[in-house]
Amino acid sequence: MRLTVIGTGYLGATHAACMAELGHEVLGVDVEPDRIAALRSGRLPFYEPGLDELVAKHVASGRLRFTTSYEEAAAFADVHFSCVGTPQRADGDGADLRYVDAVVETLAPFLERPALVVGKSTVPVGTAARLSARLAELAPAGAAARLAWNPEFLREGYAVEDTLRPDRLVFGIDPATPETESLLREVYATPLAEGVPVVVTDFPTAELVKTAANAFLATKISFINAMAEVCEATDADVTELSRALSFDTRIGGRFLNAGVGFGGGCLPKDIRAFRARAEELGAGPALAFLGEVDAINLRRRDRVVALAEELCGDELSGCRVAVWGAAFKPESDDIRDSPALDVAARLRRRGALVSVHDPKALDNARKRHPELDYATGALEAAQDADLVVHLTEWAEYRALDPKAVAEVVATPRLIDGRNALDTTAWRAAGWTVRPLGRP
Ligand SMILES: NC(=O)c1ccc[n+]([C@@H]2O[C@H](COP(=O)([O-])OP(=O)(O)OC[C@H]3O[C@@H](n4cnc5c(N)ncnc54)[C@H](O)[C@@H]3O)[C@@H](O)[C@H]2O)c1
Repeated sequence: MRLTVIGTGYLGATHAACMAELGHEVLGVDVEPDRIAALRSGRLPFYEPGLDELVAKHVASGRLRFTTSYEEAAAFADVHFSCVGTPQRADGDGADLRYVDAVVETLAPFLERPALVVGKSTVPVGTAARLSARLAELAPAGAAARLAWNPEFLREGYAVEDTLRPDRLVFGIDPATPETESLLREVYATPLAEGVPVVVTDFPTAELVKTAANAFLATKISFINAMAEVCEATDADVTELSRALSFDTRIGGRFLNAGVGFGGGCLPKDIRAFRARAEELGAGPALAFLGEVDAINLRRRDRVVALAEELCGDELSGCRVAVWGAAFKPESDDIRDSPALDVAARLRRRGALVSVHDPKALDNARKRHPELDYATGALEAAQDADLVVHLTEWAEYRALDPKAVAEVVATPRLIDGRNALDTTAWRAAGWTVRPLGRP
């Protein structure tokens, strides 16, 4: 099939390359000319394992092309995926819908033939119904310009695998246009043939599946972090607690690791937007608990800063701190709402001299926080440090030899903000180690 993918960020670039891998002819569309120029030459403007090879492969095969022209997009295909961002509004907790609105406003006037626009962005419930009406109003094809909502569940770091072999597909369609389901089944024929389950439902349910999934995951992380707070008050060990809980198959061990909490371009803004939308709908009390989920999450960052003060003396001023990690999670260069960078910036504001290392996210971090120092290696960041703070659980930090690191620091003091390092080995090498939620 011929498809366009509008918005070529983490979601859209992945979707475009994976649709080409599934055999479709794909045109990626973005408003950022630099991004399009990079993609055209087969280069990925961000880090995602395996995606650069896939983009290069299909740019070379001719199945994947890129443009900044909506007119070209409308002429090229009759199925258009909308993958633009829905960040948090600058003036509140709700989602900023200007980009999803702009896609419909810009594309619709070019839709002269019957077409299907498929929304993939994470949006507040009610958005699809509104956009569907707007599309039919603006398109020369009228009601033959249709909308579907197909929320995306990919995880950064596993985006290619998650797109080619998703856990499930969700199709939100207008019951009056059942033919949109057949079109979506044709797009996803390969994963469907491999047995990927599909839920075909209405617009509001499809929109809610995504926000409910993120609300659940955020709640699970904040649950174990709340337990970590209680453990800290009682000298219990949250990692042993979590391990014991994980054997209960009703609970399970995933997303049950206590640490500095969640961040990124999805969970924080999605739980805030979900709660804001529920309030608009008169269902505020149903999601009031998400405010607590958010607060628990942010308190973990306070806890790391407080531990740093405890270890370096109340005055962090002049204290040399190495921060390991800037991305919001490993295998990504995404620094949006990253707990690691937030803590680094807060330590700096308290007067610490902060040197940050990350295997992939240094360029992004430098642009966002030019006031911090950056090091190209974990040991270089730790040189003469009074304190090392481990905040993004990259495998390379787990592979470090605590004795070798002890030789370069001024004082062997470590905060393990991810409970991922072997505290026994680090202590044996002479380090004072403070994990989160553990004695
Ligand atoms: N990143 C993830 O892991 C992930 C996973 C699931 C869902 N989502 C959702 O997907 C959506 C996109 O997220 P992302 O992380 O890819 O964002 P992103 O910021 O990386 O990408 C957005 C892209 O859209 C482009 N854009 C903005 N306005 C445009 C317009 N009018 N026309 C064409 N292009 C335009 C931007 O230039 C950018 O390249 C969000 O709603 C997000 O919540 C993201």
